[in-house]
Amino acid sequence: MVIAVDGPAASGKGTIARALATHYGLPHLDTGLLYRAVGIGVLRADADPADEAAALAECGFSDALFHDPALKSEAAGRAASMVSAHPQVRAALLARQRDFAAQAGGAVLDGRDIGTVIAPDASAKLFVTASAPIRADRRHRELVKLGLDVQFEHVLHDIQARDERDSSRSAAPLVMADDAALLDTTDMGIDDAVQRAVALVEARI
Ligand code: C5P
Repeated sequence: MVIAVDGPAASGKGTIARALATHYGLPHLDTGLLYRAVGIGVLRADADPADEAAALAECGFSDALFHDPALKSEAAGRAASMVSAHPQVRAALLARQRDFAAQAGGAVLDGRDIGTVIAPDASAKLFVTASAPIRADRRHRELVKLGLDVQFEHVLHDIQARDERDSSRSAAPLVMADDAALLDTTDMGIDDAVQRAVALVEARI
């Protein structure tokens, strides 16, 4: 069983994907971490995330990098969103994600193109979204909890810029798969959103 969870930044898709993985006893991959790892690699190399060759050179990172708290930063998210627009970067990270999805017993993956590109034959696909101000509020709280001093307006602006970049790029843009179930979490607490997600998956498997 493969469950694909896609959606924009801070929509709740990561929390929902982790909860589904626990519920069904499946391994989970947050694919945003791969792009964040490349983004951080580029920033640490003092290179430009808009430079495709420089980004490609950072695609050989090890899984150990996933535990680096710097991946959670806004700078990493911004760099991730820039490097993820490069077709060669997406191609370089494809096998890693497909292998994860293909493991015996199944998996849960969350990202932007899981249901459309990585696992088009997934058993269940969810597209999780919420209004931009609600997503910015959630992300802002997360960052404050991490001890970062950031303004809400800055986070909102960043989320809107990221939505625009992720949706308008030509390589695997953020679009809902035709056969995905839409889950709008704007007016839901996380517990309700998870319950609803399980019900939507149950209806599809
Ligand atoms: O989900 P997260 O905010 O960690 O993702 C960071 C960036 O990585 C996104 O803004 C998006 O540009 C990119 N990404 C992607 N495809 C995925 C996962 C993330 O393009 N499957």
